[in-house]
Amino acid sequence: MKFFIDTANLAQIKEAHELGILDGVTTNPSLMAKEGISGADNIAKHYQDICDIVDGPVSAEVLSTDFAGIIEEGQKLKALHPNIVVKVPMIKDGIKAIKWFSENNIKTNCTLVFSAGQAILAAKAGATYVSPFIGRIDDSNWDGVDLIAQIAHIYGVQQFEAKTKILAASIRTPLHIVKCAEAGADVVTCPLSSILGLLKHPLTDLGLAQFLEDAKKL
Ligand code: E4P
Repeated sequence: MKFFIDTANLAQIKEAHELGILDGVTTNPSLMAKEGISGADNIAKHYQDICDIVDGPVSAEVLSTDFAGIIEEGQKLKALHPNIVVKVPMIKDGIKAIKWFSENNIKTNCTLVFSAGQAILAAKAGATYVSPFIGRIDDSNWDGVDLIAQIAHIYGVQQFEAKTKILAASIRTPLHIVKCAEAGADVVTCPLSSILGLLKHPLTDLGLAQFLEDAKKL
């Protein structure tokens, strides 16, 4: 399973990269706004800065919602760096655009996915990644991890033209990462706090303290 970080914060991207386990990055307009990035030139520069840190897929989201706009914006984003993956919302024109990008060898991440039906459409259109938002599903009283398992099952028994990868998004906790790994996610995109949360266990801390104490007797 690949690990992506879900942020536009360069310091956090560097910290995760230095751990040695980072495979890629996802961003979205809210995450970019949180970093105070605005204006086309600054947005483009920020994506390039991210690509300079991580040598892996970097999802950059289009802001257009019509077919022609998505295609134009996606091509501009792709031209910024070979590692850019064009992030496209799960809407009618988005699906048409994903099909077009797939036929033109441009990688896509179909975002805002909340059902198995949407995941089937994304795979049919040839998306490189499909992003079910599991935290937001949990917030709405459904089980986000169940959706990952359902999509993994469907993608396993069906033969879609593209080998669409399941990118579990809207991860909120370390346990989400573990459960997504069990359920068959190909990728998890997580905040830094959830990645670092995987390190934690009180018995590790107690055991290390004891070893260091006993080491003084050596
Ligand atoms: C995915 O690519 C999205 O950027 C992200 O995971 C959404 O997470 P949120 O529900 O915490 O905003």
